[in-house]
Amino acid sequence: MALRFISAEEAASYINHDDVVGFSGFTPAGSVKSIPVAIGERAKAFHAQGKPFKIGVITGASTGDSLDGSLARAEAVKFRTPYQSNPDLRNLINAGKADYFDSHLSSVGQNIRYGFLGKINWGIIEACEVTENGEIVLTTGVGISPTICKVADKILIELNAFHPKALRGMHDIHIVADPPNRREIPIYKPSDRAGSEVIKVDPSKIAGVVLTNLPDEVGGFAGTDEVTDRIGQNVADFLSAELKSGRIPSSFLPLQSGVGNIANAVMAALGMHKGIPDFEMYTEVIQDSVIDLMLKGRIRYASGCSLTVSPEALKTIYDQLDFFHKRIVLRPQEISNSPEIARRIGIISINTAIEVDLFGNVNSTNVMGRKMMNGIGGSGDFTRNAYISIFTCPSVAKGGKISAFVPMVSHTDHNEHSVQVVITEQGIADLRSKSPKAKMQTIIENCVHPDYRQIMNDYAYLAGDTHTPCTLSAAFAMHMEFEKSGDMKNVNWGDCFRK
Ligand code: COA
Repeated sequence: MALRFISAEEAASYINHDDVVGFSGFTPAGSVKSIPVAIGERAKAFHAQGKPFKIGVITGASTGDSLDGSLARAEAVKFRTPYQSNPDLRNLINAGKADYFDSHLSSVGQNIRYGFLGKINWGIIEACEVTENGEIVLTTGVGISPTICKVADKILIELNAFHPKALRGMHDIHIVADPPNRREIPIYKPSDRAGSEVIKVDPSKIAGVVLTNLPDEVGGFAGTDEVTDRIGQNVADFLSAELKSGRIPSSFLPLQSGVGNIANAVMAALGMHKGIPDFEMYTEVIQDSVIDLMLKGRIRYASGCSLTVSPEALKTIYDQLDFFHKRIVLRPQEISNSPEIARRIGIISINTAIEVDLFGNVNSTNVMGRKMMNGIGGSGDFTRNAYISIFTCPSVAKGGKISAFVPMVSHTDHNEHSVQVVITEQGIADLRSKSPKAKMQTIIENCVHPDYRQIMNDYAYLAGDTHTPCTLSAAFAMHMEFEKSGDMKNVNWGDCFRK
């Protein structure tokens, strides 16, 4: 069946108010770029005429500014799920102007197929190749595209000439059967393949193809600094000691690492550490640091959901595609983040916290308990099922006025039963096999910033000798103090404990 080549504006004209649209990509990698801008313009035109225009937006994870930014600025988002990180969209969500619901990234695909997100009217997918018989070769991110292509009524393709057709073969497209017919996912090591190189659809579902030639809108991460370097070093020292003690097998285990500058610092430290053998990744986002360590031979293989890399790193990959085809596979997030596989292959998870409480509960998402930052992403998929789960963070935020360690987290994403090790620039708190009281002690001694250590020791003393030393009247006193005076250090426990 012949493909219909159309403009982005014509593609956008098919999208109507109240439609639910599933978009390709995972992070800005593989996200569509021209059709969402045109949808934003269409929304603005409707709004100028006093007519409503908002759509449901389902993605793999965060996207580029052309998608989340354009739709947010046009106030065209009825609801949004899952992870997002665009400042304009974040403001819209926190102003209550767009409904947002967070979700473990591994669950999005199955929740769509189960019907939990309602009917999906459109799939808008970026490809480096599409054939007349309905084969779609994705670009740098897989995300939820396979499920969207399966369930959406109609599909629009952005055929992006920026990405070479030779990417074919880097993807492993596998959709699990749904209960009661689900079987195990046949992946037993990071390089195993379970599916096909392409997404296959009924070609009559493809309503049009828009030609583009646009790079991914991957922003740069802030460089590493003294604090992130020390966190990275502490992670590497911890894992090397675990290996030496025999608690990690001598062949080592696949790593999952989050995104951002701490993750880059951790990868760099692992790469340089003499006590860490060459290793493999079973992760979500493949960042620049992974590509660098692959070229140095330190990382043997990486399974991920996206190539979220700088333009320079992407050029390196495209210049040596044969080399990287043998070392990288990109999977749907349902597989890259699969709890089943994480548990089976024994991944070591390393993610970042916004705040941690004295018992090891972690908040990754809601600042001061109520302002959405980005979302839980894949951190829950991995943390709950890891061989060893690690959380990292700087011990303080906002120039020291906020302690990352508080008596009780203001929102819980990962609870104390899943969080095993917490690492800051100050040191390592190993929480495994410890009572709440012992966890509190090791966190104060090893992770809390010196400016807050006495404050925390005072809290621990005043909270007394119960199983979990928590005092309700003081649990959020540090948060409340920050909102009152702008500095958690001014907290006065006397006021709370007298109540
Ligand atoms: N209270 C208030 N604000 C805090 C804070 C706290 N306890 N801790 C950090 N912040 C602020 C920082 O000051 C910074 O603010 P700014 O943007 O105004 O400068 C912001 O939160 C981000 O912190 P930063 O130190 O730059 O960390 P980051 O970029 O590494 O992001 C998370 C940290 C937790 C927000 C990020 O890792 C995330 O979204 N995680 C959840 C998803 C996830 O884990 N994904 C990977 C799984 S595969």
